[in-house]
Amino acid sequence: MKDIRNYSLLRHNTFGIDACCRRYIEYSSVEELQQVIAMLSPADQPLFMMGSGSNILLTQDFEGTVLHSAIKGCEATVCGDTILLRCGSGEVWDDVVARCVANGWYGAENLSLIPGEVGASAVQNIGAYGVEVKDLIVKVEAIELATGKGVSFDNGECAYAYRQSRFKKEWKDKYAITHVTYRLSTTFTPHLDYGNIRTELENRHITAPTAKQLREVVISIRQSKLPDPQTEGNAGSFFMNPVVGREHFEELAARYPSMPFYEVDASHVKIPAGWLIEQCGWKGRSLGRAGVHSKQALVLVNRGGATGQEVLQLCETIIADVRNKFAIELHPEVYVI
Ligand code: EPU
Repeated sequence: MKDIRNYSLLRHNTFGIDACCRRYIEYSSVEELQQVIAMLSPADQPLFMMGSGSNILLTQDFEGTVLHSAIKGCEATVCGDTILLRCGSGEVWDDVVARCVANGWYGAENLSLIPGEVGASAVQNIGAYGVEVKDLIVKVEAIELATGKGVSFDNGECAYAYRQSRFKKEWKDKYAITHVTYRLSTTFTPHLDYGNIRTELENRHITAPTAKQLREVVISIRQSKLPDPQTEGNAGSFFMNPVVGREHFEELAARYPSMPFYEVDASHVKIPAGWLIEQCGWKGRSLGRAGVHSKQALVLVNRGGATGQEVLQLCETIIADVRNKFAIELHPEVYVI
């Protein structure tokens, strides 16, 4: 177990923001987590459960305790053509995807190279290229922070939706996730109809991709559009893609015939926030030391030495501009702390 006072989180957030927490505790097992819960005092509150820091913006020092899971390990149970893979919450998500693809356990390949850890995958319902992790999650095991008691939730209880779950709403700060069980299949059913996957496959003269080839294509698309946090701090998509009512959509589509969109249901349509931000002239621009990535306007970046407040100011300015131009309210996908 690691237990450190007045700890800099600089190496623990991909935005590269230099902020401190009063106490930082990392645990490697359920038993260690239960010991941590038993020893915490009111002075250690509030608690913040942090994964790999790839989806947070620190705007100030955190006057409380950061808890980080380093629970590792994945166990596979084979039931016919179904694989149940139970992973520790501290496993790196993309290592899990790589392992699945290497073993011929299919379903996760479109979620290749999404940053973050297993615990966060179940909080955030990570998604890309037409697949969301909720399509794979069977069970989430957690410890209730108030009591140290173990609990287990099935997929339905987590109330998953686009980048949403109960862990982000009424269960926020209530549980620490320890394990997630995913359902994979030995039958490969490729999902190729989203974004530019098919174009990229055509460029490589691939007509029927293997899961390994599909993973490679997804990785290459992500790497071509998204900045490497080692060189330019960022947290991937900064905003969620907004969902608007059909009437509002029709009115915008008449004004902007080339506007991309995704059907949600009979009365709702999702519009890419990256397109809205680009239309407001922000792509590639900066405000102070914070900026908008030149290849993907949904990604805000730290141009070097930015404070969390500078990134927040850019975020608020973009929200106001999109509201004024499109009457659409953007909401951050990253946790602003
Ligand atoms: N677009 C622009 N300008 C931009 C960026 C995008 O016009 O600067 C347009 C694109 O041309 C495209 C549309 O917006 O027509 C969607 O763009 P893209 O396919 O790049 O995806 P996104 O909607 O911006 C979402 C997810 C990503 C995921 C991709 C692919 C959210 C918040 N983000 O981004 O999620 O990788 O789709 O499925 O839903 C991540 O960002 O880390 C992530 C996992």
